[in-house]
Amino acid sequence: MLIRAERAGDEVAVERLLQLAFDTPAEARLVKALRMSRALTVAFVGERNGSLVGAIHVSPMTLNPSHPGVRCYALAPLAVSPTCQRQGLGSLLVRAAIRELIELRADALLVLGEPHWYQRFGFEPAANYQLSCRYPVPPEYFMVLPLRAGRMPTQPTIANYHSAFRVLDDADA
Ligand SMILES: CC(C)(COP(=O)(O)OP(=O)(O)OC[C@H]1O[C@@H](n2cnc3c(N)ncnc32)[C@H](O)[C@@H]1OP(=O)(O)O)[C@@H](O)C(=O)NCCC(=O)NCCS
Repeated sequence: MLIRAERAGDEVAVERLLQLAFDTPAEARLVKALRMSRALTVAFVGERNGSLVGAIHVSPMTLNPSHPGVRCYALAPLAVSPTCQRQGLGSLLVRAAIRELIELRADALLVLGEPHWYQRFGFEPAANYQLSCRYPVPPEYFMVLPLRAGRMPTQPTIANYHSAFRVLDDADA
C-alpha cells in the first residue's frame, strides 16, 4: 500500500471509504468539518492499485487547564476499507501518522478506541497522566501515546477535541 498525504480531489473517495468502514455517516461528516476548519494536522490516505482503501486523520486538542507549549493531538478517525482489513494496512497508517507527529515535535497523540488495538503502538490509558475527555466512555478507552519525555500534564486535565467534533453531537441528535 502506498501511504501519502490527502490531496485536493480525494474528498469524495475519503467520504465513501469512511461511510463503508463505519456504520454511520458521522465520521465522514467529522472529516469534512475538520477539513473545512483547516484543523487537519495529519491527513494520510492509503492507496492500493490506484484505489483509496485507508485513511487516517489527526487534529489538534486543547487542554484544560491550559499547559502552554504542550501540543496534544487527537487521532480520529482511522479507517480501512472492509475488503482490505486485517492485512496490516491500519497499522501502517497509524505508524505513518505517529512518525509525522514526531517530525512535527508533537507532545502526545490521544485516541478514543479499542485498547487491544491501540496498545500495540504504545498507547496507554490517558488516566495514567490524569488526562480525561468529555465523552462518556469507560476510562480505558481514552488513551495516550506520549511522544516527548516530560511533557505530559502533572495535574488532572481535560483534553478537549477541536470544535469541529460538535458535528458528532449533531449526528447523535
Ligand atoms: C480498526 C481498523 C482500522 C484496523 O485496520 P486493519 O487494516 O484491519 O488492521 P491491521 O491489519 O493493521 O491489524 C489487524 C489487527 O487489528 C485487530 N483489529 C482490527 N479491528 C479491530 C477493532 N475494531 N478492535 C480491536 N482490534 C481490531 C485485528 O484483530 C488484528 O489483530 P491481530 O493482529 O492481533 O490479529 C479497521 O478494522 C477498520 O477500519 N475498522 C472500522 C472502523 C474502525 O473501527 N476504526 C477504528 C476507530 S478508533
